[in-house]
Amino acid sequence: MEGPGPDGLPSATVTDQPTPSHRPGPADATPGPAADRSAGAHRSGDRFRRGVVSFVRRSPRMNTSQEHAMARLSDRYLVEVPHDTTTTSVAPGSHLDLTAIFGRRAPLTVEIGSGSGDVLASVAPAHPDRDFIGFEVYLPSVASSLTNLERAGADNVRIIVADAAAGLEHLIGPSELDELWTFFADPWHKKRHHKRRIVNPDMARLAASRLRPGAVWRLATDWDDYAWWMLDVLAAEPGLEPVDAGLDGFSPRWSERPITRYERKGRTAGRAVRDLTWRSLGASAQDSRQTPGEAVHR
Ligand SMILES: C[S@@+](CC[C@H](N)C(=O)[O-])C[C@H]1O[C@@H](n2cnc3c(N)ncnc32)[C@H](O)[C@@H]1O
Repeated sequence: MEGPGPDGLPSATVTDQPTPSHRPGPADATPGPAADRSAGAHRSGDRFRRGVVSFVRRSPRMNTSQEHAMARLSDRYLVEVPHDTTTTSVAPGSHLDLTAIFGRRAPLTVEIGSGSGDVLASVAPAHPDRDFIGFEVYLPSVASSLTNLERAGADNVRIIVADAAAGLEHLIGPSELDELWTFFADPWHKKRHHKRRIVNPDMARLAASRLRPGAVWRLATDWDDYAWWMLDVLAAEPGLEPVDAGLDGFSPRWSERPITRYERKGRTAGRAVRDLTWRSLGASAQDSRQTPGEAVHR
């Protein structure tokens, strides 16, 4: 898939977020074109609710080989989940039976926006003792990822076609994750689009709750403003702490992360690619700032 743009990406990101406290946030957050206000999880105040999201899904046209891949490999790699009001939503109260899905219980990694599966196809085969789930909403990319996973012989990976925010909220239990990835995850790199970003305070809190204590969230972006935004968002989340952070707050490039077209594109354009690695501190750190009724729930 070529990098989807703001007008074509089926990206569900949480909107109406508080601006991270210790850095002035952009004032303008003009809603983009064709915002779908019916899907995605939105946490505001003391509860999750269906809310305003920027979810744009252009009619996903697959080429012939992608259609063939879908027909041939869906049973092997795709996990169907119950939807709510849209095809990329996840019904509250849903449950993933990981033992049934993978035939075992192993440490679980989730990728938010797995695209064509390049990272999963590279990393998963090197870790046969772990299991991996990619959330991806753009069907042509999903189809390509099936081919990539087959080619890599990755049997410990499954793809779920759903908004990752809703998936994390409804399908993954507290402390169930051993690792979380967000690499070049959405196209909202412009300051004025910050409210659409998948990395936002609510996602940070959700990630901290879904990761087991000590487990890490790896992120990478080639956009300067988004990199600093991520740093601010993560630093403002009491349930997370940085790992291997340099003086600027960023961490060394994760050596296992393959160079995908997105990183290559950013580098070719002269942009710096930055990695962030943050670890969950566990429930007690989060509880310390929660008020009754505010606990993250499934
Ligand atoms: C730029 S691609 C990067 C793919 C992959 N992470 C990589 O590094 O190669 C970003 C992907 O994230 C997906 N995406 C964005 N927001 C999403 C969301 N809320 N849920 C699931 N997928 C999402 C997009 O559809 C797109 O395929």
